[in-house]
Amino acid sequence: MDFSLNEEQKLIQEAARDFAQTELLAGVIERDDAQRFPKEEIKKLGELGFLGMMVDPKYGGSGLDTLSYVLAMEEISKIDASTSVVMSVNNSLVCWGLEKFGTEAQKEKYLTKLTTGEQIGAFCLSEPEAGSDATSQKTTAIDMGDHYIVNGTKNWITNGGTASTYIVIAQTDKDKKHRGINALIIEKGTPGFEIGPKENKLGIRGSDTHSLIFNDVKVPKENRIGEDGFGFKFAMKTLAGGRIGIAAQALGIAAGAYELALKYSKERKAFGTEISNHQAIAFKLADMHTEIQAARLLVYQSALDKDNDRDYDLSGAMAKLYASKVAMETTVEAVQIHGGNGFVKDYHVERLMRDAKITQIYEGTSEIQKIVISRSILK
Ligand code: CAA
Repeated sequence: MDFSLNEEQKLIQEAARDFAQTELLAGVIERDDAQRFPKEEIKKLGELGFLGMMVDPKYGGSGLDTLSYVLAMEEISKIDASTSVVMSVNNSLVCWGLEKFGTEAQKEKYLTKLTTGEQIGAFCLSEPEAGSDATSQKTTAIDMGDHYIVNGTKNWITNGGTASTYIVIAQTDKDKKHRGINALIIEKGTPGFEIGPKENKLGIRGSDTHSLIFNDVKVPKENRIGEDGFGFKFAMKTLAGGRIGIAAQALGIAAGAYELALKYSKERKAFGTEISNHQAIAFKLADMHTEIQAARLLVYQSALDKDNDRDYDLSGAMAKLYASKVAMETTVEAVQIHGGNGFVKDYHVERLMRDAKITQIYEGTSEIQKIVISRSILK
């Protein structure tokens, strides 16, 4: 498989790297501390075309491939994973699904604003009692003829407070189980739709995570995505691509921590020499470098599978499983290499370590990825 990048992909990578250095780095510690959403930064990302990267330009997108998207995700995540999760959800879970399965009217009304950053999207599947077990949806969307009435609660919703457009998964016909589930577009401000409290999180603290409450929310039928009962498949297909984005995020967190550790090890002296000259540190760097490159190849492979219309459920799950493990292990080692300095905020690696953890949890935990992988290889 050829992983060499073309000129356009290299330019995207460079632009994302530049953006992360010039726009994200300076405020990232303060945003993490204060749990402040990167509002201005996201606006600029939208203006640069990073929020609808894979969408057709006729809907305001950048018309790029998935590999360009993962390259940008990696670069942004090296510096600020709170910003990259906003980018990932908007690109993969909202824009991609709307473009692929939405009606022309839905694309005109919503997609054109979501690709440019005029609006941000949220993907609402998880519930207090339906996390990994996603078919157990308790939120209901009762069919009333020309509209649905939605009731229920969603949990841990990324962009929960800042989004304007919410894709909400809800059960219409319980007897049909997952085949009775629908995906509905619900606008912020719709009567009965309330934003719950913001979560106080271990990592990605700059991102905005809320519960959402729906009390007799009236949603027109034209806001349903796909045929009646398509909602669960919509969620699964969308998440399969989303996992590639989160795998790229994990890769970026790992690579960011490694780059910091490498630099530090050449500056910090102990026992009369730079610590990189001690084999204990050099071997850690060797392991990190090797594992990050292995994760990168899996991430690129899954992106190329998607771009070449090959099945990417398996490769995306493998990429997410492995890259998130590497992110967790690499960031812990990066803190270790930094010693006491690694434990304080100014050196960035403790934040990357906290941010890494969520990549093993959201868009399907590592255990869920193993279900997807094992089912695929055993069938
Ligand atoms: N593509 C298309 N259809 C799929 C699919 C896929 N990748 N995976 C499953 N399906 C279909 C199946 O074919 C089946 O349909 P039929 O019966 O009509 O054939 C249906 O979905 C149900 O599939 P399963 O029987 O496999 O369902 P299951 O109950 O065993 O669950 C699961 C499968 C993979 C474990 C699934 O529940 C799952 O992915 N759980 C994790 C949920 C998750 O990732 N949540 C993340 C929340 S979003 C988030 O985190 C965003 C954020 O904030 C950043």
